[in-house]
Amino acid sequence: MLPGPIPRHVAIIMDGNGRWANERRLPRPFGHRAGMKAVREAVEGAIDAGVEVLTLFAFSEENWNRPALEISALMDLLEEYIAREVAELRDQGVRVHVLGDRSRLTAGGRAAVERVERETAAGEKLSLNLCISYSSRGEIARAARLLAEEVLKGTKKLEDIDEEAIRSKLYTAPWGDPDLLIRTSGEQRLSNFLLWQLAYTELYVTPVLWPDFNRRTLRDAILDYQRRERRFGKVTAS
Ligand code: IPE
Ligand code: IPE
Ligand code: MG
Repeated sequence: MLPGPIPRHVAIIMDGNGRWANERRLPRPFGHRAGMKAVREAVEGAIDAGVEVLTLFAFSEENWNRPALEISALMDLLEEYIAREVAELRDQGVRVHVLGDRSRLTAGGRAAVERVERETAAGEKLSLNLCISYSSRGEIARAARLLAEEVLKGTKKLEDIDEEAIRSKLYTAPWGDPDLLIRTSGEQRLSNFLLWQLAYTELYVTPVLWPDFNRRTLRDAILDYQRRERRFGKVTAS
């Protein structure tokens, strides 16, 4: 067990699969496949640590601009991951949600996503959010559009459009903001992930490439988090 406060919500930018494969002179999809095991590690590590919400960035809107072969390998892996893990996730008490523009997925991908959401709906231990075809700017633009629609219909007043109104229209509305963001592979950027939600999140960048991520990496990140002082703009009580 970890000694201090546990981040309730952990978000992870799972990066470095391509470099992991490159280092082994393998095609990039091999890195993505190896990354599946790391997802299992992250889920089990989160449950063990007592994390309640785990939000994983699996595929961005911008990733649609990658070569077609890599995209189809990733989409096949998504379906394979769900087919292989759905029973285990359900038994572990994990409830899965998929966040993003699922209209861009193939029919098979959409069916798999709907299946995992349906079959894990009773999970109460860990909420696992998979961000797929996700863009944070897209998410915020969508929230603005949904609110504008309500104003046009007359169900909402203009002066009611405040931070809370926007928050309530984001894909992440059911969960609080992440307490801890982990990015693997050493890149120090957000790459259009949860821009609104990360306003006061603690950031942790590790050089570990995603396929090498395991419970220990998660534990190290949480231990580092426990040494942080979260001030939210206030001054420290002394
Ligand atoms: C992360 O690994 C997985 C996705 C973005 C889908 P990358 O594929 O970005 O791997 P690198 O960053 O090229 O090493
Ligand atoms: C961010 O990684 C997206 C995911 C991890 C799914 P990228 O590899 O796409 O980001 P950049 O291109 O390095 O910013
Ligand atoms: Mg990358």
